[in-house]
Amino acid sequence: MLLMADRLDQVTSFLRRPDVNLCFQIHPNQLTIPTFNPPAEWNYWWQWSGEPMNASFTSNVLWSQSKWQLLWFYYVRDSTPDWIREHPDEDTFKLIPIQLRKLIDEARTLQLSRAVDTFGRQSTRRKFTGMSPKKAHEVERMTQYVSNVLAEDSPESRPQHAADIGAGQAYLSRSLRDELGLHVLALDFSQVQSHGAARREQASKSSDNETQAGSLDYEMIAVDSNSLISATEHWIQRRVHGCCLNPCPTPILWVALHACGSLTLDILRAFILRRRQNDQDVCWRPSAAVIVGCCYNMVRSEDRVLTRDDIVLSPNHLQLAAQTPDQWGTSPLKFDETVLAIRKIVWRALLEGIMARSEVTQTDPAAKLEIRRLGRLNNDAYTDRDQFIRRAQTRMGVDLSSQCSLSERDENLERRLEVFHVLRCILGPVAETFILLDRERWLNEQLEGTNTNVQLVNLFDQNSGSARNVAIVAMTS
Ligand SMILES: C[S@@+](CC[C@H](N)C(=O)[O-])C[C@H]1O[C@@H](n2cnc3c(N)ncnc32)[C@H](O)[C@@H]1O
Repeated sequence: MLLMADRLDQVTSFLRRPDVNLCFQIHPNQLTIPTFNPPAEWNYWWQWSGEPMNASFTSNVLWSQSKWQLLWFYYVRDSTPDWIREHPDEDTFKLIPIQLRKLIDEARTLQLSRAVDTFGRQSTRRKFTGMSPKKAHEVERMTQYVSNVLAEDSPESRPQHAADIGAGQAYLSRSLRDELGLHVLALDFSQVQSHGAARREQASKSSDNETQAGSLDYEMIAVDSNSLISATEHWIQRRVHGCCLNPCPTPILWVALHACGSLTLDILRAFILRRRQNDQDVCWRPSAAVIVGCCYNMVRSEDRVLTRDDIVLSPNHLQLAAQTPDQWGTSPLKFDETVLAIRKIVWRALLEGIMARSEVTQTDPAAKLEIRRLGRLNNDAYTDRDQFIRRAQTRMGVDLSSQCSLSERDENLERRLEVFHVLRCILGPVAETFILLDRERWLNEQLEGTNTNVQLVNLFDQNSGSARNVAIVAMTS
């Protein structure tokens, strides 16, 4: 088992490898541009990926026997979902070039396990109504986890207050109040979310006559490190009269369920600031933070890498960090969705190539922009490639037929695009591993000497749809 610190070093080296780094830097659309020259670092998979697949690896009609599927099977070979009864054998996997297999093996070894962590169950009194099954799972698990965190403290020093940051519709806030009897401050900057939360609060009051030990205050506020500290301060002073006369600071718990982009870092910075202050100087203190991040693509550039100066994460790293190829085969429906998603990527890239080859883009630079204006097309546009191109032309208001033969297919390029996209998705979880370990190391460094323990906890089951399932947890040790 790798130590976390060693793993961060190894993950960094892996992401810095030229063949890997180029997979992040180059977008599939670039492959279709006539002037594109494949980097020499990709020689070990480039040629192979364009050639037709000359063997069938299963008799099941579900599989198209394509190279991208073989690659995916190789990636999940130790955890192939039960419903897939027939999958390629070791000999068939040998059709994949050895260097490519090694790359996938390394990506697999380096990425953090996402298997859900077990912790004591707390029986819930209430049904989690009004939520999607995914949200109900997240709220239930997070409530259980917070309950365990509270149990670490003696009854006298146990926090009775929590702030739910980026609370949205305040599902978690209400659960912490109703299940654990906490006084909760729900913070969110969105009017839509706060109105929704108020409506749900009304609905839950009319359907639930039980006396609530805790309470819930909702505040509309744009959270950053400073505003989080001042909002908490004002709220605690309102709630705990004379709190500043207390010999010990009032403990408060900070939680965030899918704190988008840099919101996660803003919360952690406020946590660090407050934990570093002396007890006698503060009337409240965050005793623990349980933060699940999301939307890496919204992380500010200065927050992308925290502890190292030998690596830069590009927007592509952040996009791909959200990929979960492990989840592609959780059901036949999910696999069908994956097949469609990959087709979309490939056909849109091919269209980019057609645009590049056409006079339209050569003589009218404004038309280049129009491919971005293609926007979303309905799924049925992707049932047939020619129909897709017709629909795309109509949407973009261009006629490409005079410039190139649309019926001509470059199957080598299509296979290559599929393999390249799948390869990038397989590398994505390593980029997410980097982000998580880098945050963990940074928080540990920043909190040194504050008697705080930092860890990553797999809170949610990814099979329930919670792709971002890791909480960064900081609590008094
Ligand atoms: C992904 S949603 C999660 C909502 C909720 N925690 C849940 O799990 O249902 C993120 C929420 O954070 C809010 N948010 C994002 N950045 C924020 C900021 N800087 N200040 C306050 N709210 C923010 C958004 O309005 C949104 O409601």
